[in-house]
This record gives sequence, structure tokens and C-alpha cells, in this order.
Amino acid sequence: MSFEITAHTALFGLLGHPVGHSVSPFIHNSLSEHFGHDLRYLAYDVEVAALKAAVEGAYALKIKGLNVTVPHKQAVREFLLSEDEAAARIGAVNTLKRVDGGWQGYNTDMPGFIRALESDGIAVKGRYVCVLGAGGAARAIICALLKCGAAKLVIYNRTCEKALALAEEFAPLYPECDMEAAHSYDDLLKSMRGTGGKWLAVNTTSVGMCPNVDDILIKDEAFYKLCDRGVDIIFNPAKTAFMKAIEAADKDNKAYNGLKMLLFQGIRSYEIWNDVSISDEVAMQIYPGLAKRVMG
Ligand code: ATR
Repeated sequence: MSFEITAHTALFGLLGHPVGHSVSPFIHNSLSEHFGHDLRYLAYDVEVAALKAAVEGAYALKIKGLNVTVPHKQAVREFLLSEDEAAARIGAVNTLKRVDGGWQGYNTDMPGFIRALESDGIAVKGRYVCVLGAGGAARAIICALLKCGAAKLVIYNRTCEKALALAEEFAPLYPECDMEAAHSYDDLLKSMRGTGGKWLAVNTTSVGMCPNVDDILIKDEAFYKLCDRGVDIIFNPAKTAFMKAIEAADKDNKAYNGLKMLLFQGIRSYEIWNDVSISDEVAMQIYPGLAKRVMG
């Protein structure tokens, strides 16, 4: 069933550049249809120089909520009344909620990733975790893994200095986690072998993303033999070379892509905007349509 647009229909949207391939309209319009909420969600292509005007204009138009994506997730913070703890810690905002006098900022990438892990049955508490990459996405992933109680977390990145800076920034906030940055690939293997247990590995880099589907950050089989679970934040292709390598290392190994993280960050935004709680059952009703759209 689809609802007629009237003078009362509430408007939500996405600010990014580019936004042509975004599936956020599908997620949010599917949710509004499911709940029978009188709202619509549109994607707006906003260039960097126009961000301030877009955020202020959206407020003037009484748009109720916005998602914010690349390249605006950091820059938008300047135009907010306040932001939640996750956004402040990660240094990026992907959700704005209209409140009296302006916008409240949130980061739903972090809770979205946590809920995706739960949905895939990946327990993080007490685990050894290796994060590949040290960019913007890694910040939200690392915050989530620390919040979930990882016992040991090693960051490995092509540019080692960025991994070191991240470890230095986050280690004092979670003293219960043994956190470090690997100085080299050999250093990473040494850390992993030192624990004597299996690792959860999370790829936060863009290596292996469509169309470069055969690319893989770490080729060495020894790395994958030390892992029992893998999560790739990439969702196209549905099974990346990294995921294949994790699963090939042991018959009991499992690997997951980033589509559930994408879905649950959207769901968390919708929950914040509309004061609803969305069950896994509803989420999974939307998931197949989302997968179909992502794969084009
Ligand atoms: P995002 O916000 O998506 O995380 P980003 O901040 O540009 O994007 O970070 C991209 C991450 O992928 C970085 O960790 C980057 O490594 P560098 O810090 O060394 O640039 C990593 N990355 C991207 N392409 C890579 C490649 N071809 N090989 C290794 N790492 C790569």
C-alpha cells in the first residue's frame, strides 16, 4: 500500500555528494510504508560549498530529519545545536533531528554496526579483534567494538601513522581493552599469534569494492588461519575476496558483508526521528529488497 502525499506529509532526506546510488530512500520509504507513517524520504545531491545553505534551508522548510553522508559527515557538525556521545567520540554525524532552534546530531553508524553484529550472532565481548583500515569508517567500527567489550584490538593500516594515532586516541577511553596499532604486517601476525586464540577481523577499507572485486588487503593465508569470523563493511559484491579468504581458512569460519550495518544505521535514524522501536523481524522484511537494489 502506498500513501497519498498531502499538505501534512512530513519530509525527511539525505544530504550527500553524490547520492545517485543511495538506497537510503528505499530503507526509509519502506519503513514509513510498513508503519503507515505519513512521511517521505528523498536524496539531495549537495555540493560541499552548499552544505550550510542546505542545512539551514532544510530547517526553514521544516524538514524533520536528515541523514548526512560523504563528504559532509564531519563538516556538518559545525551547524548543529548539539550532538550525541557517539558522534562526538567518532567525530562524524550521519543523522540530524529537527529540534526547537536547530538540529541535534547523532551517529547511527556505530549502533548500526553493533546491531548488525548481534543480528549475525557475532559476540564481541572478550574477543580478540583485528581492524583493517584507519579511516573514517574505522573510527565508528572501533568505537563499536570497544563499546561491545573487545578484550584486545589491533589496528592495521597501509599508512601505519594513522593506525597509531587512532590507537593513541581511543586506548585511554577504554582501558579495559588491550589496544594497539601494528607497525607492519609482521607485527600484526606477531600480535595475533601471541594470544593463542582465534580472531574476529573487520575490513573497514574500500579494498575489494566493486568493480575491483578480486582485490584483497591481506593475501597471506596465515592471517586468515588465525581468524574464525570476518566482517567486511563492503556490501557490493555481496561476498568480497576478504570474506572468501576468511571462509576458505576453516570450514567453521563465517564471514558477513556490510549490508546489515547499512540497514541498521538507517533503522536507528528512523527510530530516532519517529520515536519508534523497530524489531529484527521488520528489519528482515526490508533486507531482501535492499540486497536486490544494492546489487543493481
Ligand atoms: P572511509 O571514510 O570510507 O573510511 P577513508 O577515510 O578515505 O574512507 O579511509 C579509507 C581506508 O582504506 C584507509 O584506511 C586507507 O588506508 P590509508 O590510510 O593508508 O590511505 C584504506 N585504503 C584505501 N585504499 C587502500 C589500498 N588500495 N590499500 C590499502 N589500504 C587502502
